[in-house]
Amino acid sequence: MSQTVTQWQNQAAVKDRLSRPLRDLRISVIDRCNYRCPYCMPAELYDNHKFLPRGHWLTPGEIKRVASVFLQLGVRKLRLTGGEPLLRRDIVDIVAGLAELNGADDIAITTNGSRLAEHAAALKQAGLSRVTVSLDSLDPDVFKAMNGGRGEVSAVLAGIDAARKAGFPIKLNTVVERGKNDHTLLDLVDHFRGTGVIVRFIEFMDVGTVNGWQPQQVVPSKELLERLRARWALSPVDGNYRGEVAKRYAFDDGQGEIGFISSVSEPFCGNCNRARLSADGTVYTCLFASSGADLRGPLRSGASDSDLVGLLQNIWRNRMDRYSEIRGRLLEHKPEGTEKSERVEMYRMGG
Ligand code: GTP
Ligand code: 5AD
Ligand code: SF4
Ligand code: SF4
Repeated sequence: MSQTVTQWQNQAAVKDRLSRPLRDLRISVIDRCNYRCPYCMPAELYDNHKFLPRGHWLTPGEIKRVASVFLQLGVRKLRLTGGEPLLRRDIVDIVAGLAELNGADDIAITTNGSRLAEHAAALKQAGLSRVTVSLDSLDPDVFKAMNGGRGEVSAVLAGIDAARKAGFPIKLNTVVERGKNDHTLLDLVDHFRGTGVIVRFIEFMDVGTVNGWQPQQVVPSKELLERLRARWALSPVDGNYRGEVAKRYAFDDGQGEIGFISSVSEPFCGNCNRARLSADGTVYTCLFASSGADLRGPLRSGASDSDLVGLLQNIWRNRMDRYSEIRGRLLEHKPEGTEKSERVEMYRMGG
């Protein structure tokens, strides 16, 4: 990359009120999902839910346009999420559009893997860089308990295999819930050790309003690391980039690495450089936000690129979010304006 381009990129990064640059855009392309994970979209509440009408979804062209504006503001990483992004029939068009843009170092997707086997090759062809698959257990009963009784482990494993054959670097996201799947995690690590697939454990979070989160359901990453260390020698590894949410550990015998995403026990808001765009074109500046800014309105009523740049610059410059760092205080005092009932759900905002 030429010196001039690097300088332009550095100058372009807009910073928030806590001096955090905007680097990462997470794009939710759909709020629907074929799973009903109780920690995200419990079946009893969502089986008859009215999801966003399709007409409210940003089109592939609109997603590309919004992403190009974010790239002008300093974003370098794009991640597609949902709901389940592979339920969008035009997902390959969405990826292809983003891959045409200049400036994105990385275009990844987070999927539950159930439909990955059929899409992996086309996604690679369209220009996707990486795949992250959510998989909470290899034990069929525990797998079902974690996802609301849907899907099959074998389909997810076939998806991971297809993604590997297509040439993608692969990570797994495993939500850890005490007493529910934590007794199956050593098996999961054992299965993927030495395959190049990086398993990452996510502490169960109090995101949204419907999952009935209780602090005692969280297995702090330190505790899980100790359990894993009783079986394997593991050493910490430096982060890949500033703002990386996972803490990395490598197997001392060279069989790969694992990661921990410890948003509850060790919050990482200080480096948070992520903006989130929902399927209907709302921009959120925190996973725990209760409101966002509408972009679809301006997009569909003829806003120019510089109007959109101004709007997003303004949003990011006013940003002060650091929910995970102040969670303890909020849970104790519940000051006005932070009521849990107002938080946007994770499947809507996109993980
Ligand atoms: P890499 O680009 O591979 O480092 O992945 P990533 O960690 O950016 O993305 P991924 O979607 O795999 O993130 C993993 C999980 O970490 C998410 O699904 C969330 O559960 C959690 N997470 C990611 N970003 C944030 C964040 O800003 N705040 C909190 N509290 N959790 C986050
Ligand atoms: N706590 C932690 N992780 C969660 N995810 C969804 N809901 C929660 C929660 N309450 C995970 C999913 C997926 C990613 C997008 O976020 O399992 O891997
Ligand atoms: Fe679907 Fe992911 Fe939510 Fe589970 S966590 S219901 S797979 S969007
Ligand atoms: Fe970023 Fe909000 Fe998560 Fe903190 S809680 S890391 S500010 S998204």
